[in-house]
Amino acid sequence: MNDVSLVSADSVPLEVVWRAFVDGFRGYVVPVELSFDEFEQVIADEKISLAASVVAVRDGVEPCGAAMLAIRTAESWCGGLGVVPSVRRTGLGRRMMLAIIKEARTRGVTRMRLECIDGNHAAWSLYEGIGFRPTRRLEIFRGAATPRPDAWKAASIWPLGDPGLVLNRFAAYHPVPPAWQTDLPVLRRQNPNGCWAGQSATLNAHVATYCFARSAISCGSSTVAPAYRNRLPITWRCSSRHWSSPTRGVT
Ligand SMILES: CC(C)(COP(=O)(O)OP(=O)(O)OC[C@H]1O[C@@H](n2cnc3c(N)ncnc32)[C@H](O)[C@@H]1OP(=O)(O)O)[C@@H](O)C(=O)NCCC(=O)NCCS
Repeated sequence: MNDVSLVSADSVPLEVVWRAFVDGFRGYVVPVELSFDEFEQVIADEKISLAASVVAVRDGVEPCGAAMLAIRTAESWCGGLGVVPSVRRTGLGRRMMLAIIKEARTRGVTRMRLECIDGNHAAWSLYEGIGFRPTRRLEIFRGAATPRPDAWKAASIWPLGDPGLVLNRFAAYHPVPPAWQTDLPVLRRQNPNGCWAGQSATLNAHVATYCFARSAISCGSSTVAPAYRNRLPITWRCSSRHWSSPTRGVT
């Protein structure tokens, strides 16, 4: 059996962390093709702490997995867990999760959240086994950042020149908090490439949609009143679940 040790992600070059992350996601439900620059951007946007994240290294040289931990005030978020295929099912995923939970607790963080896409039975079982429980289903939409030409007419939508008009009222549009990656602190860091809003007196509905594209794995967020749900230029969606665990509850 090879010797696999865990090191802090800030103790190795960022390229090593990136490699471990991308290789750890091989065969994932959705292809994870993240360039080094995009990875760097994700770390900054999502407030991933390299000091609190871990990289698994085989035989002292070969990166073979990573677990990323993001922290904002008293909350933490697992920003990715991946193990390269050749060492899966050897206990490494669980080991890395327990390591970042420990890091979170050391920093006084009492809760950790993460997402698990439907159908990822391996990860689901791992998270449940260490004490995480699903808290809600999260719908994820992906589509072109440019609406269909007829979308304006269909839903009385107009472009907003200033995304601040939406961002400053973020809480009003999100009675249920968005996912970590699409929450206000992240969106404020990104360059909006589209922002639309609309309303209809007759339908008594409001909608605000805005898109912040960073890459093919775009980061967007929208609040869509039921009356508009099938009328916006959204072409694809998948579901995942939010999981949460009191980090104190896991030893
Ligand atoms: C999910 C993943 C991180 C698990 O890592 P791992 O090192 O293989 O997991 P471990 O060996 O630590 O297993 C811990 C537990 O997870 C569950 N598990 C792991 N792989 C599993 C599989 N293929 N089928 C069913 N359960 C599995 C089991 O409950 C296991 O406990 P057990 O060994 O006592 O039965 C790994 O499969 C992976 O990197 N997949 C691709 C990336 C990914 O899906 N990341 C998670 C994103 S939410």
